[in-house]
Amino acid sequence: MPIKDTLLARLANREARIGIVGLGYVGLPLAVEFAEAGFTVIGVDVSADKVARINQGESYVPDIPSERLAPLVAAGRLHATDDYDALRQADAVSICVPTPLRKTKDPDMSYVIEAMAQIAAICHEGMLIVLESTTYPGTTLEIILPRLLTNGFRAGENVFVAFSPERIDPGNQHYSVRNTPKVVGGVTPVCTEVASALYSTAVDHLVPVSSPTSAEMVKLLENTFRAVNIALVNEMALMCDKLGVDVWEVIHAAATKPFGFMPFYPGPGLGGHCIPVDPHYLSWKLKTLNYNARFIQLASEINTSMPEYVVDKVVDALNDDCKAVRGSHIVVIGVAYKPNVDDTRESPALDVISLLHERGAHISYHDPYVPKLYIDAQVKLVCAPYSTDLLESSDCVVIITNHRAYDWQHMLDHSKLIVDTRHATAAVQGRARVVNL
Ligand SMILES: NC(=O)c1ccc[n+]([C@@H]2O[C@H](COP(=O)([O-])OP(=O)(O)OC[C@H]3O[C@@H](n4cnc5c(N)ncnc54)[C@H](O)[C@@H]3O)[C@@H](O)[C@H]2O)c1
Repeated sequence: MPIKDTLLARLANREARIGIVGLGYVGLPLAVEFAEAGFTVIGVDVSADKVARINQGESYVPDIPSERLAPLVAAGRLHATDDYDALRQADAVSICVPTPLRKTKDPDMSYVIEAMAQIAAICHEGMLIVLESTTYPGTTLEIILPRLLTNGFRAGENVFVAFSPERIDPGNQHYSVRNTPKVVGGVTPVCTEVASALYSTAVDHLVPVSSPTSAEMVKLLENTFRAVNIALVNEMALMCDKLGVDVWEVIHAAATKPFGFMPFYPGPGLGGHCIPVDPHYLSWKLKTLNYNARFIQLASEINTSMPEYVVDKVVDALNDDCKAVRGSHIVVIGVAYKPNVDDTRESPALDVISLLHERGAHISYHDPYVPKLYIDAQVKLVCAPYSTDLLESSDCVVIITNHRAYDWQHMLDHSKLIVDTRHATAAVQGRARVVNL
């Protein structure tokens, strides 16, 4: 049987073994979905702690309850290891390792390169390799493919290579791996066909595109779209402030237009491993082609200035109470980068806390998902127990993340002053003076 058909048959009858490299917010949900689809899944992660927890059936990703993971582990459907050798038995491997930025805002491809070196060493005939990590256009052809071809493999013939961007939205209660359409771009049409056959077992709707580079660009368009629109509405907030207009009223009214408008909301800045990071992958690539990605640069400038703006609001609000920020007790509510998740990567809370700390404020924070917060060598915080006393003893409460768990009425009733960067308290009235963005 031709190599491709053998793999397609093994995928169809669930005999194929699926490898997932990188078992974080992206890789673990994917591994669980494939295991639930009937495959045996081998997860590889360099973190000994994550490997041990998975093998005990314990999830560390809030969207995957341990009750969902444990039966798969117990049934031998999902096993984690730090040893790439286990992937020798895999028919398909999805790479879900981090793609952060260096301090210079250049892509840090070291995780992808390291993972790929390990996979190239165990790659066998008939294997499908899919990169899922968000990256710059050209990565699959420039980094993934050459590392296989040096071993005598031919893409689309005896090995299959594709890019399929991960779109998971942690904390989203409506869209998960299964019902979020998935874009797939293979190095050849056969690679797209084989990669689509893999993902169609775990995802309801697939969107094939003509190349991995198109698929890489799709992801960057999606996330640049968000970064730019968030920057636009953040700038609207700054302009409305100068005009004495309520930006939230403006957005809500504009959103009644039934066509041609999609509401975005201002906030304390961007966070997470995606929106603040991914557009820089695109602008970095374009720099190598002598092109300056102007929207991305401007959006980044505006979004990264928002924590300063929040701190200015706090300083002004305290001033109105005849208080200096130095020596004031400030409680930051929510430090994750968005509601109902535990992820603090790139969270604007880190910058807000750091700036307030520099100005001499006494900072406490509460976040039901984040027990400890490491800002830098000087500022390491432990989550304060949430209590009436915490609010009443504060000079100012700063709402950064509007987690569902918070009782806003209680917060308003027991605080003196609230700077609300999310419009979280809009529907309630209480004792506190509230300053919105
Ligand atoms: N988090 C999201 O919401 C999201 C959404 C879409 C896309 N993405 C993209 O997906 C990728 C992964 O993001 P994430 O949020 O899951 O990151 P993560 O940090 O949660 O998980 C990555 C995992 O990879 C492991 N790892 C690092 N190097 C490794 C190696 N050489 N071999 C094996 N494992 C290794 C880490 O220990 C970690 O467990 C990134 O490119 C990100 O941009 C993330």
